[in-house]
Amino acid sequence: MRQVFEQKFNALPAIWIKAPGRVNLIGEHTDYNGGFALPMAIDRHVVLALRPRNDRRVTIYSLEFDSTLEFSLDAPAKRNTGWDAYVQGLAWALNCDGYDLHGWDGVVWGDLPMGAGLSSSAALEMAVARAFSAVGGFAWEPAAMARAGQRTENEWVGVDCGIMDQLVCAGGVSGHALLIDCRALTFDPVPMPANTAVVILDTGTRRGLVDSAYNERRQQCESAVHYFKVDALRDVTAEMLGDPSGELDQVVRQRARHVVTENARTLEAAAALEAQDARAFGGLMRASHRSLRDDFEVSSAALDHMAVCASKIPGCYGARMTGGGFGGCAVALVAVGALDTFTSQVTQCYRDATGKTPELFVCRPSQGAHVVM
Ligand code: GLA
Repeated sequence: MRQVFEQKFNALPAIWIKAPGRVNLIGEHTDYNGGFALPMAIDRHVVLALRPRNDRRVTIYSLEFDSTLEFSLDAPAKRNTGWDAYVQGLAWALNCDGYDLHGWDGVVWGDLPMGAGLSSSAALEMAVARAFSAVGGFAWEPAAMARAGQRTENEWVGVDCGIMDQLVCAGGVSGHALLIDCRALTFDPVPMPANTAVVILDTGTRRGLVDSAYNERRQQCESAVHYFKVDALRDVTAEMLGDPSGELDQVVRQRARHVVTENARTLEAAAALEAQDARAFGGLMRASHRSLRDDFEVSSAALDHMAVCASKIPGCYGARMTGGGFGGCAVALVAVGALDTFTSQVTQCYRDATGKTPELFVCRPSQGAHVVM
C-alpha cells in the first residue's frame, strides 16, 4: 500500500487506519427492534493509508477495484452502487451532522471478503469516518460515527439496515464481544471465554433477494409493534405474546416471538460469557438458530446444514447462522484444543451434504476502527 501511495501521490502516507469486519455471535434481527445484539469485531480489516490535504477534496484509490474516486466535500455526488457510495455517503452524513471535515488523499485495501456477510461495507464506512476524525481533529465517538454509517446505508445507499454492524466496527474491544443495547446505543465489552475460538463458516452461498426479504421482516415487526401498541418489539413480553385472545396474524406472531426470545437469549448469552460458561453460551446459539429457522424464517438449507454439521462435532459448543440470513456465513464457538479436528470434520460434513467446500475463518475478537500507531 505504501508503494502504491507513493506512486499515486508522490508522498508517503502520514496516517494508517484499520477498521474491522464483524461477526454476530447472537442477537439477530433485534437491532431494528430496539433490542440487544452481541457481535464482535474480527481480525479481518479494511485498511486505509492517507495524507491530509489543505483543501476540501478527497481522493481515494481502491486497490481491490483498481479505481479512483475524487470528490469535493462541498458536493459529494449521490450514487447508490459501488464502494465509492459508502465513502461519499459517509462524508455527506458527517456534513449533515455538522462535523468540520478536511480533505485527504488515501489508498484503501482490505483482507475482509466482500459480500460474505462480514460487514465489509460497515468496515469501509468506519475506516472513512476514522479518517475524517483523524484529519479534522474531532473526537472519535463510536455511537455517533455508527449513526452516520447507518444513515449512509439508509438514506444514501438505500439499504434499510439497523445499527449493529457499524456500532461494533466502530467500538469493538480486543478480546471481547460487545453487548449492544440498540435502543440506548450503548455497548459493554464482554470477555470471550478462555480457550475458545470463534470460527466463521462461509457456506459459499450468497443471499439472493435479500433486501426484499429483509424489508418484509422489518414490516412484519412493525405490524406487531402496532398490534401490541408499543414503541418497539423490545417492549413486548413473553406474557403479551402468549395471550391467545386478539387477532394477531400467525406469521407476525412468529416473527415477534423470535425477537422477544432472541432478546432474552442475548442477555443470557452475555451473562454466560461473563461467567466464562462456553457450554451455556453454545446452547443459546443453537436455540437462536432454531428460532431464526422456524419463527423468523431467514435461514437456508445451506445454513441449516452448516449449523447441524458444526454442532455435532466434539469440542464445538454451539453454532448458528449469523447476519441477515438466506446465505452467507454461520458462526461456531469451538474449544481451542479441538480446532484441527473441527475444521476438517465440518468441511467434510458440509461437503457431503451439499457438494460444496466451505471457507473457514478462525478469528479473534478485535479492536474497532482505530489509527495504527
Ligand atoms: C444485517 C443488518 C444488521 C442486522 C442484521 C440482522 O446484517 O445490516 O443491521 O439487522 O442483518 O441481525
